[in-house]
Amino acid sequence: MLQAMDYKAKQFNLSGLQGISDKTLEMHFKLYEGYVKCVNEFNEKIAEMLKDGKVDQDEVPAYSELTRRLGFEYNGMVLHEYYFENLQKQGTGMPASDSDFIKAAQTTFGTYDLWKTDFVGIGKMRGVGWAICDQDPKTGMISNHWITLHEVGNVAGFIPILVMDVWEHAFILDYAPADRPKYIEAFFSNINWQAVEGRLRSKRITPSAAA
Ligand SMILES: [Fe+2]
Repeated sequence: MLQAMDYKAKQFNLSGLQGISDKTLEMHFKLYEGYVKCVNEFNEKIAEMLKDGKVDQDEVPAYSELTRRLGFEYNGMVLHEYYFENLQKQGTGMPASDSDFIKAAQTTFGTYDLWKTDFVGIGKMRGVGWAICDQDPKTGMISNHWITLHEVGNVAGFIPILVMDVWEHAFILDYAPADRPKYIEAFFSNINWQAVEGRLRSKRITPSAAA
C-alpha cells in the first residue's frame, strides 16, 4: 500500500529583515505554502491512480503530466525552505573569518571575495530562477549554480549550502525589476551564516580528490 506523503509547511520567524519587507515575506510564505499544497495534492492524485496496481491507459496523460510537474513543485517547496532557513534578522553580512565556509570558498575559488563575485554574478543573470552554492559531498568542493525555474540546473546529489531566490516575487514589492542587485545586497546582509555553516560537510573537504 502506497503511503500518502503529507508535507507540512514550515513556519519562519523572519520579520524585520534589512531591505526585505515583512510584506514581501508574507507574500513569499504564501507562495511557498502553495508549493507544499501542490506536492501533497499531486502525490495524492498519483497514489489514487496507482491504487488498482496499474496505470490505466486512459490515465497515462494525466499521470505523465502530474509526474513531470513534480520536479517543479518539489523543488519549489524545498528550495524555499533552504532560502528562508538561510536568512535571519540582524545578520552579520560576512561569515566568520575562521568558518568552514570561508575555508571552502578559499579552497575552491582562492578567496571568499571571488566566490561572492561569482555567486552575485549568477544572481544578477537574466531569467527566472535561483542562485545556489552547492557542495559536492564527494570532494567537499563548493560550486555556484544558476537554476532555471526551480528544477533546471540542480546537480543530483550535491548539497545546497546557500540558496538565493531571485524570482521577481522575492523582491518586487521592495525594488524595481532592474534593481535586483540591491535586493541581492539586502539578501547578503540577512544571511544566517550559522545555518550555512551547518549544511557544510566540512569533514569531507579533500580538495585533492577533485584534482
Ligand atoms: Fe520564491
